Amino acid sequence: MNHLSSIQLNNFRNLAKQEIELCNSTNVFIGANGSGKTNLLESISLLEPGRGFKKKSLETLSEFKNNNPWIVYTKYNQNNNVTGISITFDKTSNGLIKKRILIDGNTTKETLEKNYGLKVVWFLPEMERLFIGSPSIRRNFVDRISYSFDSSVLKNISLYKKLIRERSLILKQNNFDNAWIDTIEDKIANLGYQIIISRKKTITILNQIFNEILNKKQNINICKLSIYGTIEEKINEIIDDNKSIAIFKDELIKYREEDRIKGLCSIGPHRSDLEVIYLKNQVDASLCSTGQQKEIILSILLCQCYCLVKKFNISPIVLLDEVCSHLDDNTRSILLSLTGWLNIQVLMTGTDKNLFSFLSTKSKFFVINNGKVKNE
Ligand SMILES: Nc1ncnc2c1ncn2[C@@H]1O[C@H](COP(=O)(O)OP(=O)(O)O)[C@@H](O)[C@H]1O
Ligand SMILES: [Mg+2]
Repeated sequence: MNHLSSIQLNNFRNLAKQEIELCNSTNVFIGANGSGKTNLLESISLLEPGRGFKKKSLETLSEFKNNNPWIVYTKYNQNNNVTGISITFDKTSNGLIKKRILIDGNTTKETLEKNYGLKVVWFLPEMERLFIGSPSIRRNFVDRISYSFDSSVLKNISLYKKLIRERSLILKQNNFDNAWIDTIEDKIANLGYQIIISRKKTITILNQIFNEILNKKQNINICKLSIYGTIEEKINEIIDDNKSIAIFKDELIKYREEDRIKGLCSIGPHRSDLEVIYLKNQVDASLCSTGQQKEIILSILLCQCYCLVKKFNISPIVLLDEVCSHLDDNTRSILLSLTGWLNIQVLMTGTDKNLFSFLSTKSKFFVINNGKVKNE
């Protein structure tokens, strides 16, 4: 089982220079608002590719009053092999900010997920708005899960988005070159189709885990997930990949004129949405109570973790920020499944220790005060 055995912080937001020894099961950080709980979890989220869960520019994460760049150093334990991983950033000569990863003190191009099986899964309070926010939030939610199963997903999506922008720019020109737009649309249809397929695979896996494992073994309420959109409807019944791609391409051609006027791309997986039905009440997740919506999101994350552990043999590190508000027995059993049943390392935060009394005695409690973390 992989886990972080310690984390050392330097100049990271309001967190003082310090080293925190973590346990390999559940670590709970208790502190008042503004004490630095989210900052601490954010520092760990930087182990994933990208800018961490807040997606802020890397240079803004350094301590306000200090000119030195932040460094987060962790000891990563993989079946008792310990690797020192540092993350920081560099400013290139042309002013670009780039993340830098060091393995045992040496700069590396290796990726932490591919070479070290290091993955981080998180729940943030703002995710409670998943079912009432815009479709793009739900698409990102699904794509992040797909990406944790297959790292090529991220590259496909960013390339796809670039092509969509390129198509809009070409259409804007009065006398655009037909051969040029044809090439772009071919690429859009190909990549877009791959995105549709990867989402479909993810949804199938999650539904299967809900039905066959979570409900039967852990007595967790089932959700039924699906992705819907105009393009999905058009190719849903078609088995032949090339035929589906051709239909996608035809749709793009059909919408050219409309898209030129509107300045967008009307068809494709960038317009799809995730639907979740909470089967116990047979209702759409958007109609469930706030507490139930949280239960649904956490149960989907539990499916994701189950898949990572059982299928890919990777124990993700799970960050749960302010997770213990509006907890009922259903949600508690999800959290206990994460910590007890799947046996993965979890870091949770909250303002009141009493909210965590349901956790096992193996959990380690910390108090965080003004950026300083102490063992309880
Ligand atoms: N770059 C930074 N340097 C110093 N302090 C920061 C920085 N960024 C945020 N903070 C401070 O961190 C505190 C918020 O910490 P946060 O982890 O969000 O608290 P909480 O415990 O409520 O989750 C605020 O007081 C904020 O001013
Ligand atoms: Mg917070």
